[in-house]
Amino acid sequence: MPASVTAASQSTKKDVVLSVRNISKRFGHVNALTDVSIEVGRGEIVALVGDNGAGKSTLMKVIAGAAAPDEGEIRIDDQPHNFRGPHEATAAGIESVYQDLALPGNLDIVSNLFLGRELTRAGSLDEPAMEARTAALLKTLDVKIPSLRVPIAALSGGQRQAVAVARSRMWNNKIVQLDEPTAALGVAQTRQVLELIRRLSDEGVGVIFISHNMPDVLSVADRIVVLRLGRNAGGFNVKDATIDGVIAAITGAGELTDSGARTDMTASNGS
Ligand SMILES: Nc1ncnc2c1ncn2[C@@H]1O[C@H](COP(=O)(O)OP(=O)(O)OP(=O)(O)O)[C@@H](O)[C@H]1O
Ligand SMILES: [Mg+2]
Repeated sequence: MPASVTAASQSTKKDVVLSVRNISKRFGHVNALTDVSIEVGRGEIVALVGDNGAGKSTLMKVIAGAAAPDEGEIRIDDQPHNFRGPHEATAAGIESVYQDLALPGNLDIVSNLFLGRELTRAGSLDEPAMEARTAALLKTLDVKIPSLRVPIAALSGGQRQAVAVARSRMWNNKIVQLDEPTAALGVAQTRQVLELIRRLSDEGVGVIFISHNMPDVLSVADRIVVLRLGRNAGGFNVKDATIDGVIAAITGAGELTDSGARTDMTASNGS
């Protein structure tokens, strides 16, 4: 692996919260991830980009404890972790908002925010306390929602993403991962979700932000990590990055082979 690719996965922050090293993950004969590394510093926003099938969601699932890696290591605050399920990753301070946004649509906002971590008082659910905390949280996030007791299914896509991000902010997390949070959103809603991501970062939460939208990536991220065909394929500090440069890393354009020939752009993606 070229030295630049190894360096590309590293945080420029001194305070590295998440260090994911040399992860490989196979599904049958598919090498979804091969020797992938990524670091996230305290308060750092790292965009994870790559073509369809590059391995982004798989890497997120490994970090979320939802998929077990075949090889490699995950360290949080320099402590090694072997997650046996999503609950262990959550307990270690990693919150994940998935691409398909698995918020139970029949539950209302308060129930969604506290799902699996309900507050109780004298053995029964403490609804007033959960409602008060939900209202306070949404207020600090400047999220406008018609009522805390409407079911998630009745919210717009942007409002749902806002609730998902709020949920990830509720539990004193170290790392929040978001898989394509703005993919289905309009202009105003996208701006709101990007603003929520900045707030997470301001509070010291490290963010992994998966996106295909280069303007969003360049506007919100500190650093960009590129995956191609399941491998690290470059990294950029956003202040040095150009859209053309990032796209070249994503597609493999301009990459030199051992013989010095340029690789074919169509070789970028087998899915
Ligand atoms: N559960 C699974 N079983 C078999 N193959 C899988 C599974 N999950 C992912 N893959 C394969 O692993 C590769 C990486 O998929 P992944 O979903 O991580 O890509 P991605 O970068 O998130 O793509 P997209 O941008 O389309 O969301 C693909 O070739 C995919 O088909
Ligand atoms: Mg994906």
